Amino acid sequence: MPKALITGFTGQDGSYLAELLLSQGYDVVGMVRRTSTIHYHRVEHIQDKITVVPGDLLDQVSLIHILEEHKPDEVYNLAAQSFVQTSWSQPVFTGEVTALGVTRLLDAIRLVDPKIRYYQASSSEMFGKVVEVPQKESTPFYPRSPYGVAKVYGHWITVNYRESYDLHATSGILFNHESPRRGIEFVTRKITYHVAKIKLGLADEIRLGNLDARRDWGYAGDYVKAMWLMLQQDEPRDYVIATGDTHSVEEFLQEAFSYVDLDWHDYVVQDPRFMRPAEVDLLVGDPSKAGKELGWEPTVSFRELVRMMVDSDIKLLQDGGTPM
Ligand code: NAP
Ligand code: GDD
Repeated sequence: MPKALITGFTGQDGSYLAELLLSQGYDVVGMVRRTSTIHYHRVEHIQDKITVVPGDLLDQVSLIHILEEHKPDEVYNLAAQSFVQTSWSQPVFTGEVTALGVTRLLDAIRLVDPKIRYYQASSSEMFGKVVEVPQKESTPFYPRSPYGVAKVYGHWITVNYRESYDLHATSGILFNHESPRRGIEFVTRKITYHVAKIKLGLADEIRLGNLDARRDWGYAGDYVKAMWLMLQQDEPRDYVIATGDTHSVEEFLQEAFSYVDLDWHDYVVQDPRFMRPAEVDLLVGDPSKAGKELGWEPTVSFRELVRMMVDSDIKLLQDGGTPM
């Protein structure tokens, strides 16, 4: 039975990846950091099938111990301070976790077992102020936030360890991917949760920042499949994972509100608090290399994604739940 370690197990992608690996017959080890309250809501349905281990990307000894004790064949590094807005208020912390954390983990692999296959969660945020449309693997990076800068570091240190130590280290450059398990602070989930609240009479407005930003939004369940496929290749290579389609925040609003027969203009308040010091205006990826070499393609359209998230938030509220 192959064994995989997932860092960031409690996050959106960690939960979908764990489900996928379990379905493929893996023994899954999920790393969680110590917090004062337990928050396993995204993974509680599979918790009894996973070996949950404590560890932190800030603490290299914890990583070495996990690798020595559990001996994984594959490591998926999904842990990060992943919220772009927070990276301006906590730039050093973001660098410690999202950038240097990658070196800590790669170096632990090099020391403990260099045969381990490694997946790095790189990001389309690295393209930032884009110099090419659409963005592909060869497009130069121009990050626009401390988060984007940290991800560029994580990306290049992964390439460097592959080239320096011959590790099977792969970087997936994933464009935005969403789901009902998306964190409530990200714009898609913030919108669908508020649409549900407004529809049910529990709120009467939603406060947002820049409505013109365009993103290539896909479904997280599709994207974790690409992570797994990357580690099954003989040669480690980097891949853009995207839909190839782009929409503005305003288009997301339109799609979500019209689905429940409401007009977004009646509820949206623009609030400077949610504007960013430097914005990424347009992201749209070219996933053709992943299509050709991995046989990967997205299965959920923009409209299906929006509706899936709105439906899920309406149900969550009707059932008396709180967002993840
Ligand atoms: P997420 O929901 O924010 O999950 C992040 C995970 O990282 C959580 O499990 C979090 O644990 C963990 N974590 C944070 N700091 C840590 C630390 N110091 N040590 C150990 N674990 C730590 O993010 P996601 O959307 O699933 O994204 C997964 C990865 O893909 C991230 O690296 C993100 O930057 C990257 N990415 C995401 C997207 C996207 O659109 N979703 C696109 C490209 C790249 P807690 O639960 O304790 O907070
Ligand atoms: N979060 C948020 N909240 N974003 C808003 C808001 C708001 O109220 N109003 C407008 N936006 C705009 C942001 O300015 C940005 O242009 C866009 O909506 C998307 O913001 P997020 O959903 O926060 O995601 P992101 O694109 O910054 O980052 C996500 O995708 C990256 C991949 O490109 C995160 O998942 C990153 O971890 C990931 O790497």
